[in-house]
Amino acid sequence: MTSQPLLEPLLEWYDRHARDLPWRDGSATPWAVMVSEFMLQQTPVARVLPVYLEWLERWPTPADLAAETSGEAVRAWGRLGYPRRAQRLHAAAGEIVAGHGGEVPASYQELRALPGVGDYTAAAIASFAFGQRHVVLDTNVRRVLARAGAGQELPRPSPTRAERELAEALLPLDGSTAAAWSVAAMELGALVCTSREPACHRCPVRDRCAWLAAGRPAYDGPAHRGQAWAGTDRQVRGRLMAVLREAEGPVHLSRLEAVWSDAAQRDRCLSSLLADGLVVRTGERTYALD
Ligand code: ADE
Repeated sequence: MTSQPLLEPLLEWYDRHARDLPWRDGSATPWAVMVSEFMLQQTPVARVLPVYLEWLERWPTPADLAAETSGEAVRAWGRLGYPRRAQRLHAAAGEIVAGHGGEVPASYQELRALPGVGDYTAAAIASFAFGQRHVVLDTNVRRVLARAGAGQELPRPSPTRAERELAEALLPLDGSTAAAWSVAAMELGALVCTSREPACHRCPVRDRCAWLAAGRPAYDGPAHRGQAWAGTDRQVRGRLMAVLREAEGPVHLSRLEAVWSDAAQRDRCLSSLLADGLVVRTGERTYALD
């Protein structure tokens, strides 16, 4: 056992209140966990669920996905956004087949070496699929630790050394307990300890929370970058991708021009999609998903 004061109430709360999500089900394969973590990197659970189910039905193993084209993976990514994630997941499936006998590797180092797998994703897969002990610092976990552990309303924009040390100190020593702690902290951050409206009255660790004890002082650190959307290149790229995804075959440039009136911004976005290899030119004025 451990003297970590947040652990027991948090695990008990998780058992009673966690959402029943398919990638948390004990029967989810490492590949299913990997697909879920790629999708959940920047997209909320509700939007991920239907696409995740469709993907796993269609591509239940890395080899199934690797046998498809990258363009098909991008098309099936639908409206999840940041479609380079689909391209990288497809590339990772190819490397898993070529270098790991078709099985998602269990070691953090091998996971980290796959396309699209950064520190967070490698730690999440190693923890949730293989029950290993790794600090899993997503935005929800970071907020819970900032409040309960450090007495701050929000974490800094990027993780500090002190924050990593706190996360490491609170992480249970046993691998499967560490994984349970991480997913429970994630869920608390998603459902109770939210960014805008923390529901402290429903919190299982309210009597041990440094931020609540201090009277919930407002965040006074460096500004967080907003997730602006309207009018951004990301929005324009999304509109161009939607036209290409929904088309049966190559699309004439005029149909792409119709989605955004600012020609300079539209051209810049189309060029960036070509440069990223998400889109290819198939004729003088026609384009398609790669
Ligand atoms: N369960 C496991 N990983 C998750 C994640 N990244 N987001 C939400 N729920 C999860």
